[in-house]
Amino acid sequence: MTDAALSAEQQRPADPGVLDDVPGWFWDHDRHLFDWFLGRQEKAGLSGDLLEMGAYLGRSAIVIGSHLQPGETFTVCDLFDSDAPDDENAAEMSMSYRRTLTRTAFEANYLAFHERLPEIVQAPTSTLADGRLASGAFRFIHIDASHLYEHVAGDLQVARTALAPDGVVVMDDYRSAHTPGVAAATWEAVFNHGLRPVVLTDTKFYGTWGDPDPAQLDLLARRGTLPHCDITNETLDGHRLVRIGGSDAGAEPFRVSRHHARLAVEAEHRAAEQAAEDAFRAAEREREEADRSLAERRARAAERRRPANVAKRAVGDLLPPVVTSAIRRARRS
Ligand SMILES: C[S@@+](CC[C@H](N)C(=O)[O-])C[C@H]1O[C@@H](n2cnc3c(N)ncnc32)[C@H](O)[C@@H]1O
Repeated sequence: MTDAALSAEQQRPADPGVLDDVPGWFWDHDRHLFDWFLGRQEKAGLSGDLLEMGAYLGRSAIVIGSHLQPGETFTVCDLFDSDAPDDENAAEMSMSYRRTLTRTAFEANYLAFHERLPEIVQAPTSTLADGRLASGAFRFIHIDASHLYEHVAGDLQVARTALAPDGVVVMDDYRSAHTPGVAAATWEAVFNHGLRPVVLTDTKFYGTWGDPDPAQLDLLARRGTLPHCDITNETLDGHRLVRIGGSDAGAEPFRVSRHHARLAVEAEHRAAEQAAEDAFRAAEREREEADRSLAERRARAAERRRPANVAKRAVGDLLPPVVTSAIRRARRS
């Protein structure tokens, strides 16, 4: 499928004003953890490239891209509107992404928050194994492309080679019932290929092939500082594992897009137009109501003026009450 095959509306979705306007599967706990891991590396003076496999419409890529430092490269790999490399992957694409996803839409969303696009590889993630990524050059890799075991296992191998010694790899959907392939590939990497878990959220696994201890201790030191957020210390096969759960209520929102001010003014205009329209309709209803009650009053007055009714009233007014009651009784009998 190509961009040209899609309707204009699909190619040009509404401009996002805030990150939540970008469709996707990236929630506040993880947005904060991405910011935390990337920010922590930056504070430590660590430099390195960034990679996302599976960007969809850009929700997580926009956050990762906000951490790009001078001299670093951010690469995004996604099929977007290209064909999938096998039938199972094609079925996955049709079921979840094809209806809404185009590269044009990704680019428009990304550029709403950033000056420049990342390096885009529009191809299966297996392409990344061709040596185009410098070994050991990456500090952060997010794996969120195909959720099929064969693909995810390959993506993890690419990540292992590309990551710097203390680089962080994040696996999406490592525990969802509908994505057993990600769970299998993730825990296989842990038990057979030296991947060390750092922290788990409900939706993502954060790991490293380096030393997980410093990041884990820093995370545990934040216990109690984040309202509604639980940070717990677990053990897995003798190794420490941090888990973050609870509510992400009160999380500070991501910065707004370049469209936000214009969209706010447009929304105000729309609200003012709507209020004027509502007021006009209410006045119209009131006028109609007044016309209706005037017409009813006129009809009642006309009824009262009918000669038969006038005569009835005159009889009632002129005859003594005893005669009027006698006439009424006579009529009833
Ligand atoms: C779950 S979505 C990514 C969600 C995104 N990271 C977010 O937070 O909103 C998965 C993406 O992977 C892409 N994808 C699926 N199979 C792929 C493959 N074999 N190679 C590259 N990209 C693939 C899809 O096109 C889709 O955009």
